[in-house]
Amino acid sequence: MRSFPSSLLSFALIFFLALAACARQQSSVNAVDAPQQGILLVAFGTSVPEAMQAMRDVDTAFKTAFPGQPVVWAYTSQIIRKKLAAEGRPVGGISDGLAMLASKGVRVVRVQSLHVMAGEEFSALERALLLDVKQHPQRFEAVFLGRPMLESREDAIALARAVLADAKDLRSKGEALVLMGHGQEHGRAGLTFEGARTVFHDADRKVFMATVEGARGIDELLAELKAAKVKKAVLEPLMLVAGDHARNDLAGEEEDSWASRLARAGIKTEAKLKGLGQIGGARDILVRHAKESTDNLMCEPRKQ
Ligand code: CO
Repeated sequence: MRSFPSSLLSFALIFFLALAACARQQSSVNAVDAPQQGILLVAFGTSVPEAMQAMRDVDTAFKTAFPGQPVVWAYTSQIIRKKLAAEGRPVGGISDGLAMLASKGVRVVRVQSLHVMAGEEFSALERALLLDVKQHPQRFEAVFLGRPMLESREDAIALARAVLADAKDLRSKGEALVLMGHGQEHGRAGLTFEGARTVFHDADRKVFMATVEGARGIDELLAELKAAKVKKAVLEPLMLVAGDHARNDLAGEEEDSWASRLARAGIKTEAKLKGLGQIGGARDILVRHAKESTDNLMCEPRKQ
């Protein structure tokens, strides 16, 4: 008979703690007696060993920006997680990552999306996060979600600057830079892509962008390159890592890769197999978004 009132009491306590945490919101995070904080980095994932450098660079950037905080990784792709587990280098999913942070005593979590744009994968992350928070209402005081890399015009300008500076040495005068974004069948984030493309093109008329799985594809790209009389192009992924898409769909030897299609159109190509995670200016945007997120998912939306 004793368990009922005590569980009622603990429920009430948790409720009041949550209320207090919501009232304090961001301010408690910076206080001297602040609760233990931690970071969860969420990416689609990769099983390509050469692509891992991008993940390591992002890991280092976050450890530097958030000193003393545990940085845990989650991959959303089940196929990749299974493959990595079979190879003996497991990476967990979102729930695993949150449980890991809780086991380290973390009470305030910053989840940072490493997606380039808020498409289907980001929506799935948001949903998984809210579900997990609902299932473990007392586990954290605050959970903040940082938005993907390209959210604003400011982000696109910063990314264009970083990508162009990074590719500078590979391009001689007049040579094009062709960027392969991911995109997706249902077009979510398709407009974000078009906006980013305009910003990149404004920064440099010789930058051309299309997607491997989205609305703007290789045919439109080829037409544009032809109209601009491009003779040589550097090919680079506009993705966090230079993984499977970069190595096969972009730069691969198969006849339908972008490199092969461009070659058949008389354009010389050189592949730059580097993910955005390996470019400092791109990492800075992700870190900034992690710092900017002040909307605690554990609380009711703020009243306007
Ligand atoms: Co893909």
